[in-house]
Formats: sequence, C-alpha cells, structure tokens
Amino acid sequence: MSYAMVLCAALEGVAGQLVRVEADLAPGLPMVVLSGLPDTALNEARERVRAAITNSGERWPQQRISINLDPADLRKRGSSFDLPIALSILGGTGTLPLAGLDGVLVLGELGLDGSVRPVRGVLPMVAAAARHGVAKAIVPIRNAAEAALVPGMRVLAADTLGRVIGFLRGSCTLLEPPDAAPLPGRAEPDLADVAGQEMGRLGVELAAAGGHHLALFGPPGAGKTMLARRLPSLLPQLDDEASLEVTALHSIAGTLAPGEPLLRRPPYQAPHHTSSVASLVGGGSGLARPGALSLAHRGVLFLDEAPEFSRQALDTLRQPLEGGVVTLGRSRGVVVYPAQVQLVLAANPCPCARPSGDAACACTPQVKRRYLGRVSGPLLDRIDIRLTLLPLKAAHLFTDASLRESSQVVAQRVAVARDTAATRWAGLGARCNGEVPGTVLRQRRWRLPDDVTGELRHRLDTGAMSARGHDRVLRMAWTLSDLAGLDRPGKEEINIALTLRDGGTL
Ligand SMILES: Nc1ncnc2c1ncn2[C@@H]1O[C@H](COP(=O)(O)OP(=O)(O)O)[C@@H](O)[C@H]1O
Ligand SMILES: [Mg+2]
Ligand SMILES: [Zn+2]
Repeated sequence: MSYAMVLCAALEGVAGQLVRVEADLAPGLPMVVLSGLPDTALNEARERVRAAITNSGERWPQQRISINLDPADLRKRGSSFDLPIALSILGGTGTLPLAGLDGVLVLGELGLDGSVRPVRGVLPMVAAAARHGVAKAIVPIRNAAEAALVPGMRVLAADTLGRVIGFLRGSCTLLEPPDAAPLPGRAEPDLADVAGQEMGRLGVELAAAGGHHLALFGPPGAGKTMLARRLPSLLPQLDDEASLEVTALHSIAGTLAPGEPLLRRPPYQAPHHTSSVASLVGGGSGLARPGALSLAHRGVLFLDEAPEFSRQALDTLRQPLEGGVVTLGRSRGVVVYPAQVQLVLAANPCPCARPSGDAACACTPQVKRRYLGRVSGPLLDRIDIRLTLLPLKAAHLFTDASLRESSQVVAQRVAVARDTAATRWAGLGARCNGEVPGTVLRQRRWRLPDDVTGELRHRLDTGAMSARGHDRVLRMAWTLSDLAGLDRPGKEEINIALTLRDGGTL
C-alpha cells in the first residue's frame, strides 16, 4: 500500500473544519512534499515528524512522500497535523494498519522524541468533527479532558506516537481522558464588600441587567476597581451555546487549564494599561491567539485607569466594540474572532492619582481635561452609563457588611429583568436592552408618550444631547423599568437614566 488517509481538523476563526491528511509514497528521490496551503509552522512539521518517527523505533521510508491536506483552499495553521501526518506516512509504507482510524479524528503535535504534545483549539476542532458525524477522537493527553467536553464524543488520549502505533498494531491501549473538575478557589468577589456608593451600586446593577457599557470616574480609593470587578457576579450563567463559544476561544488562546470544564460564568478580562495591542485584540504568528477583547466575549472587558492606555490601543478597540467581532490581518487572509463584550472603564480625575483635595496635586484643570479627554473622544460616546463616584465617607466604610445586598440578591433581580427584556425583544434582534436597535426603540409600538420623554427631547433639540445619547438613555430607562417590574418606563425612569448618563463631570 502506498496511500493512506487520516482525519484531522483545522480552525477558521472559532469554526473548525475537517481536514483529510493524505500521504502518497512513490519511488524516487527521498523527500517530503507538502501541499494544501501549509503555513511555515506546518513546514516545520516535516522535521518534527521525521524525528518523531525514527525516535519511536520506526523506519523512515526512503521514498518520495507527498502529503496533501484536503480541502486545499482552507488555510491551515498550527501544529495539530503532526500526529496525523506521521500516521499517514507509516500507513502509506504498509507497515502500520490504519483500520482502527476509520472515521476517527486525530489531533496532536509531535516532539522530536516522539512525545504527543498539546495543541490549542482542540475543543472547537472536536466539536466541528462531531457536527460532521465523527464519534471518536484521538488527542494529546493534556487536551483529552477538553475534547471530552463535546457531547457524544468518545475520546482516547495519547502521550507518545509509540503508544498510538502500538494501539493500531494491537499491542497496547490508548489512555482514558481524566475527568474535568472545577478548579478550586475561584469564587467571584461579592457586591456586599462595597460600602456606600449607592449610585455606583445602581450603576453596576443596571449595567448587568441591561448589558450597558459602564464608565466609572472618581477619586482614587472610591471603589471604582472594586465595583467593576463585581459586575460579573451579577450576570447570569452562560447558556449552552455561549458556554461552548467562550470555552472554544479560551481553548484557541491556550488559557484553558487542563481538566477545566466548560466555562459557565461570563468571562472577565482586565488587561493592564501597558498591554500590547496584540494582547488586547489578538494576533501572533500561526494560529492567531485571541486577545483580551475576545477572551472577554459574552462577558466583561474592564479597562482600569483607561486614560493610561495608549491612544493606539484605545483606537483599536473602537471598531470591534461596534461590530462585535475583531478582524485580525494575517499574512494570508484574515481571521475573525467574536468579541461581544460589555465594556467597563474606570478613570481617576487626574494623572497624579492623588485623593481629591490633596494639596500635593498640582494638576491644572487643563491637565485634567486632557487626561480624561484621552478616553472621551474614542470610547466614551459608546458608553451608556457614566458615573462619577464621590470619595467614600468613613461612616460608610464601617457599616455592617451583612446589611448590604449581596451579589446573589442583586443577581436574582438582574435575572428577572433580563428575562423580561429578552422576551420583549425576541425576534427584534436583541437579547438585552443594551442591544436594542434605535429604530426598534422608536417604533410606534415601543415609543414612549411625549410627556414622559419631554426632558429628553428638549436636550436633543437644544443640542445638549446627541441622537446616540438619546437612544442610550431610552435603553437604560427600559432596564430601570424592567428592574422595577414596570410595564414600561415613566418619567422617573427617564430622569434616573439621565442622571446615570450625565452623572459625571464630562
Ligand atoms: N466603597 C467601598 N467599600 C469598601 N471598601 C472600599 C470602598 N472603596 C474603596 N475601598 C477600599 O479601598 C481599596 C481601593 O479601592 P479601589 O476600588 O481600588 O478604588 P479605586 O479603583 O476607585 O481607586 C479597596 O481595595 C477597598 O479595600
Ligand atoms: Mg482603581
Ligand atoms: Zn492631580
């Protein structure tokens, strides 16, 4: 036999696609020819596969070896093809029976010593194979628990190429995947820790209930970071679809701990202001790594000390925030990763970060304006809730924490409000109030009476508020109405929404 085929998979964004790895061995000058658009990493596979095969005690065929990855027009990146390439070559020599690989997905990188190494993106690749009717997969042992998260997939794990060869010859068995178990000690911080800051607490509750973007201003030590970190604890669990999508992105990034179950909590990413643009939005050679923006997909992206981020970084975020996806330019073509995030940003009033009223602060009003101006242009326009927190009073700090509402209590209100909104907007292109298109808000059916929106229209007419701001206030008012269990917003909800919108010095 001089031809053999092994089933593998590749990724396009978060979508996986089946790939047939074919080997054809023919008499001729000993060499390996790879076809099917391989990237440079795949070319390196050639050397790894050769070393792994000889170091596993097998003979390297002295023939012309053609490897084809089909479909040819699909861009293939990464190192998950090593193991299938090695097996198809050995299959092609006729020394290894491949009957045991019929309809079996095979993924894995090879070390020069013949070890099978973990690869990124196993979850989405195995999930794609399952959708194509593949029911069995052989994956690196370190990825086995992750692969086993795909319902109905029989997963076998390999630690060495030698073991897979032995399995196919019937002389040894593959390994069982370890059980996925939640990692200990990752409890989310609780809202009950936050003293005082009633407006701030209302701001995060509203943000959670409506999916609104949130900006927190105020002096250092007021609790901005504290409040932002507690937003995820108010959000509902991810549904099955979102959970798979979020876990897949973390799988591609390689940030999934071995044995970690499907991510059920909305993700929270708080990149440091010194982070590179690539780590914010994604990038890197080969299989592009999703950045913080995509790792926060369906969750919260928190930019603490937002004015400290580079102008370039803030500008790069703008388009993805609008479109919900991030498009990364590659040497050949582009990769698109999901990036539907709830943006939270925090900023001190001035660059010296001293408490308000501190005599040592020498920042002029102009310096302060310029400092906050760094976020106001590019991002602030897209943010619904803009709050300025006042300095915390000692009296607040010493109130009894057990009397404050906990995340659990608030999350229950949030869940009810979210359900109300989801039902109302079903079929209208929105899952929460923050996503409702302005055109829908202004439809006759959802239009609020003139006496309710009087103040809002006045601000629009006098130019005190933009049309975009007008719609954002309406969306927040709907969330306040849902939280209060009302049928629709009244004057009071509009007024609170206006305060939350403009409750700042900006
Ligand atoms: N509202 C608050 N309730 C309880 N502790 C607070 C509050 N605000 C600040 N603190 C305390 O001060 C620390 C700094 O708060 P932080 O949220 O980092 O402030 P900011 O981000 O506004 O500078 C917190 O770790 C906490 O110990
Ligand atoms: Mg802070
Ligand atoms: Zn200052």
